[in-house]
Amino acid sequence: MAEEAKAPRIVIQENGPYEVTGEPVLTKRAQSESIHGEPLDWDLVASEDADYKRRKRYLLCRCGQSNAKPYCDGTHEKIDFDGTLTASREPGPRNLTEGVGISVNDDPTLCEQAGFCGTRYTNVWAMMEKTSDPEVRERARRMIVNCPSGKLAFGPGYEHMEPEYEPSVATVKDGPLWVRGGIEMETADGQAYERLNRMTLCRCGRSDNKPYCDGAHKNAGFQAD
Ligand code: FES
Repeated sequence: MAEEAKAPRIVIQENGPYEVTGEPVLTKRAQSESIHGEPLDWDLVASEDADYKRRKRYLLCRCGQSNAKPYCDGTHEKIDFDGTLTASREPGPRNLTEGVGISVNDDPTLCEQAGFCGTRYTNVWAMMEKTSDPEVRERARRMIVNCPSGKLAFGPGYEHMEPEYEPSVATVKDGPLWVRGGIEMETADGQAYERLNRMTLCRCGRSDNKPYCDGAHKNAGFQAD
Protein backbone atom coordinates (compact mmCIF):
# COMPACT_ATOMS: atom_id res chain seq x y z
CA MET A 1 0.00 0.00 0.00
CA ALA A 2 1.33 3.48 -0.86
CA GLU A 3 2.59 5.46 2.09
CA GLU A 4 0.10 8.14 3.05
CA ALA A 5 1.55 11.66 2.70
CA LYS A 6 1.73 13.53 5.97
CA ALA A 7 0.79 17.20 6.21
CA PRO A 8 3.83 19.46 6.46
CA ARG A 9 4.68 20.35 10.02
CA ILE A 10 7.42 22.16 11.93
CA VAL A 11 8.55 21.04 15.34
CA ILE A 12 10.93 23.43 17.08
CA GLN A 13 13.51 21.40 18.92
CA GLU A 14 14.53 22.72 22.33
CA ASN A 15 17.65 24.86 21.83
CA GLY A 16 18.03 23.08 18.51
CA PRO A 17 16.89 23.18 14.90
CA TYR A 18 13.53 23.33 13.18
CA GLU A 19 12.45 19.81 12.33
CA VAL A 20 10.38 20.04 9.16
CA THR A 21 8.41 17.01 8.02
CA GLY A 22 5.78 16.28 5.39
CA GLU A 23 7.96 17.20 2.43
CA PRO A 24 7.17 20.87 1.86
CA VAL A 25 9.08 22.53 -0.97
CA LEU A 26 12.40 24.00 0.20
CA THR A 27 13.54 26.88 -1.93
CA LYS A 28 15.27 30.29 -1.93
CA ARG A 29 13.75 33.72 -2.25
CA ALA A 30 15.14 37.25 -2.29
CA GLN A 31 13.58 40.70 -2.26
CA SER A 32 13.74 42.77 -5.40
CA GLU A 33 14.15 46.47 -4.69
CA SER A 34 13.65 49.81 -6.42
CA ILE A 35 16.65 52.03 -7.13
CA HIS A 36 15.77 53.74 -3.83
CA GLY A 37 16.11 50.49 -1.89
CA GLU A 38 12.38 50.04 -1.38
CA PRO A 39 11.22 46.42 -1.47
CA LEU A 40 9.08 45.73 -4.51
CA ASP A 41 8.48 42.01 -4.78
CA TRP A 42 9.86 38.55 -4.06
CA ASP A 43 12.00 36.73 -6.60
CA LEU A 44 12.38 33.00 -6.66
CA VAL A 45 16.15 32.60 -6.62
CA ALA A 46 16.21 28.87 -7.21
CA SER A 47 13.85 25.98 -7.20
CA GLU A 48 14.35 23.06 -4.93
CA ASP A 49 15.47 21.07 -7.96
CA ALA A 50 18.36 23.45 -8.48
CA ASP A 51 19.62 23.78 -4.94
CA TYR A 52 17.80 21.71 -2.43
CA LYS A 53 16.76 18.12 -2.71
CA ARG A 54 13.21 17.46 -1.65
CA ARG A 55 13.35 15.41 1.51
CA LYS A 56 10.77 13.88 3.79
CA ARG A 57 12.45 15.52 6.77
CA TYR A 58 14.70 18.53 7.08
CA LEU A 59 16.57 19.75 10.13
CA LEU A 60 17.04 23.47 9.53
CA CYS A 61 19.55 25.55 11.47
CA ARG A 62 18.07 27.86 14.10
CA CYS A 63 21.24 28.99 15.90
CA GLY A 64 22.77 30.71 12.86
CA GLN A 65 26.15 29.00 13.27
CA SER A 66 25.84 25.85 11.19
CA ASN A 67 28.52 25.36 8.56
CA ALA A 68 25.98 23.54 6.41
CA LYS A 69 23.20 26.17 6.30
CA PRO A 70 20.33 25.98 5.83
CA TYR A 71 20.75 22.55 7.43
CA CYS A 72 21.67 21.90 11.03
CA ASP A 73 25.11 20.36 11.53
CA GLY A 74 24.90 20.03 15.32
CA THR A 75 26.81 23.26 16.06
CA HIS A 76 24.03 24.43 18.43
CA GLU A 77 25.25 21.83 20.92
CA LYS A 78 28.87 22.97 20.77
CA ILE A 79 27.98 26.66 21.26
CA ASP A 80 25.37 25.94 23.92
CA PHE A 81 22.70 27.78 21.89
CA ASP A 82 19.94 29.42 23.95
CA GLY A 83 16.91 29.06 21.70
CA THR A 84 14.33 29.96 24.33
CA LEU A 85 10.99 30.53 22.65
CA THR A 86 9.80 33.98 23.74
CA ALA A 87 6.92 34.79 21.36
CA SER A 88 3.33 34.27 22.37
CA ARG A 89 1.68 31.25 20.81
CA GLU A 90 -1.69 32.99 20.89
CA PRO A 91 -2.93 35.22 18.07
CA GLY A 92 -1.60 38.73 18.76
CA PRO A 93 -3.62 41.92 18.96
CA ARG A 94 -4.70 42.94 15.47
CA ASN A 95 -5.22 46.60 14.60
CA LEU A 96 -7.79 47.02 11.87
CA THR A 97 -7.66 49.83 9.30
CA GLU A 98 -10.54 49.78 6.87
CA GLY A 99 -10.58 50.89 3.27
CA VAL A 100 -12.92 50.51 0.32
CA GLY A 101 -13.09 46.89 -0.86
CA ILE A 102 -10.13 45.97 1.36
CA SER A 103 -8.88 46.34 4.93
CA VAL A 104 -5.59 45.66 6.67
CA ASN A 105 -5.24 43.88 9.99
CA ASP A 106 -1.88 44.53 11.61
CA ASP A 107 -0.19 42.39 14.28
CA PRO A 108 2.95 44.36 15.25
CA THR A 109 4.33 41.46 17.30
CA LEU A 110 5.09 39.58 14.08
CA CYS A 111 7.06 42.36 12.35
CA GLU A 112 10.42 41.38 10.84
CA GLN A 113 11.06 44.79 9.24
CA ALA A 114 11.03 43.56 5.66
CA GLY A 115 9.64 46.97 4.69
CA PHE A 116 6.94 46.08 2.17
CA CYS A 117 4.37 48.15 4.10
CA GLY A 118 5.68 51.53 2.97
CA THR A 119 7.42 53.59 0.32
CA ARG A 120 9.19 56.95 0.43
CA TYR A 121 5.82 58.63 -0.02
CA THR A 122 3.19 56.61 1.79
CA ASN A 123 2.33 53.44 3.63
CA VAL A 124 -0.34 50.79 3.53
CA TRP A 125 -2.36 52.35 6.38
CA ALA A 126 -2.48 55.82 4.80
CA MET A 127 -3.35 54.22 1.49
CA MET A 128 -6.51 52.67 2.95
CA GLU A 129 -8.12 56.14 2.86
CA LYS A 130 -7.60 56.26 -0.88
CA THR A 131 -8.73 52.75 -1.80
CA SER A 132 -11.84 53.97 -3.62
CA ASP A 133 -9.25 54.22 -6.42
CA PRO A 134 -8.84 50.64 -7.74
CA GLU A 135 -5.18 51.24 -8.56
CA VAL A 136 -4.38 52.24 -4.98
CA ARG A 137 -6.42 49.28 -3.72
CA GLU A 138 -4.42 46.87 -5.88
CA ARG A 139 -1.11 48.36 -4.73
CA ALA A 140 -2.21 48.02 -1.11
CA ARG A 141 -3.27 44.41 -1.73
CA ARG A 142 0.17 43.59 -3.12
CA MET A 143 1.91 45.26 -0.18
CA ILE A 144 -0.12 43.15 2.27
CA VAL A 145 0.54 39.90 0.41
CA ASN A 146 4.27 40.64 0.14
CA CYS A 147 4.62 41.15 3.90
CA PRO A 148 6.46 37.88 4.60
CA SER A 149 5.90 37.71 8.35
CA GLY A 150 2.11 37.84 8.35
CA LYS A 151 2.21 41.09 10.35
CA LEU A 152 -0.09 42.42 7.65
CA ALA A 153 -3.22 40.39 6.96
CA PHE A 154 -6.58 41.14 5.41
CA GLY A 155 -9.36 42.22 7.73
CA PRO A 156 -12.73 40.54 8.34
CA GLY A 157 -14.65 40.01 5.12
CA TYR A 158 -11.53 40.19 2.97
CA GLU A 159 -9.74 37.03 4.05
CA HIS A 160 -10.45 35.56 0.59
CA MET A 161 -7.81 37.98 -0.78
CA GLU A 162 -5.11 35.92 0.96
CA PRO A 163 -3.38 33.73 -1.68
CA GLU A 164 -3.39 29.96 -1.40
CA TYR A 165 0.21 28.83 -1.32
CA GLU A 166 1.69 25.42 -1.77
CA PRO A 167 3.25 24.61 1.62
CA SER A 168 6.84 25.76 1.33
CA VAL A 169 9.87 26.94 3.26
CA ALA A 170 12.18 29.48 1.62
CA THR A 171 15.56 30.62 2.81
CA VAL A 172 15.73 34.40 2.47
CA LYS A 173 19.24 35.60 1.66
CA ASP A 174 20.94 36.87 4.85
CA GLY A 175 17.57 36.64 6.57
CA PRO A 176 14.94 34.33 8.01
CA LEU A 177 13.10 31.28 6.82
CA TRP A 178 9.93 32.32 5.02
CA VAL A 179 7.22 29.74 5.63
CA ARG A 180 4.09 29.85 3.50
CA GLY A 181 0.96 27.81 3.12
CA GLY A 182 -0.34 27.49 6.68
CA ILE A 183 2.22 24.93 7.84
CA GLU A 184 1.47 23.85 11.40
CA MET A 185 4.15 24.58 13.96
CA GLU A 186 4.61 23.42 17.52
CA THR A 187 7.14 23.22 20.32
CA ALA A 188 9.00 19.99 21.04
CA ASP A 189 6.45 19.24 23.78
CA GLY A 190 3.50 19.69 21.43
CA GLN A 191 2.30 23.24 22.14
CA ALA A 192 0.88 24.67 18.93
CA TYR A 193 1.39 28.14 17.48
CA GLU A 194 -1.19 30.20 15.63
CA ARG A 195 -1.43 28.79 12.12
CA LEU A 196 -0.36 31.49 9.67
CA ASN A 197 -0.41 31.51 5.90
CA ARG A 198 2.81 33.55 5.94
CA MET A 199 5.40 33.66 8.70
CA THR A 200 9.12 34.30 9.06
CA LEU A 201 11.23 32.22 11.43
CA CYS A 202 14.53 33.31 12.93
CA ARG A 203 17.55 31.37 11.68
CA CYS A 204 20.27 33.76 12.87
CA GLY A 205 19.71 32.90 16.52
CA ARG A 206 19.43 36.61 17.56
CA SER A 207 15.70 37.33 17.58
CA ASP A 208 14.13 38.46 20.85
CA ASN A 209 10.82 37.07 19.59
CA LYS A 210 11.78 33.46 18.86
CA PRO A 211 10.75 31.50 16.92
CA TYR A 212 9.74 34.49 14.81
CA CYS A 213 12.25 36.77 13.11
CA ASP A 214 12.24 40.32 14.51
CA GLY A 215 14.76 41.81 12.07
CA ALA A 216 17.76 41.39 14.42
CA HIS A 217 19.66 39.57 11.63
CA LYS A 218 20.26 42.97 9.96
CA ASN A 219 22.21 44.52 12.83
CA ALA A 220 23.92 41.19 13.45
CA GLY A 221 25.24 41.15 9.86
CA PHE A 222 23.95 37.61 9.44
CA GLN A 223 25.05 36.04 6.17
CA ALA A 224 23.51 32.97 4.58
CA ASP A 225 22.16 31.98 1.19
S1 FES B 1 16.71 35.69 11.04
FE1 FES B 1 17.08 35.98 13.20
S2 FES B 1 16.13 37.89 13.61
FE2 FES B 1 15.73 37.59 11.48
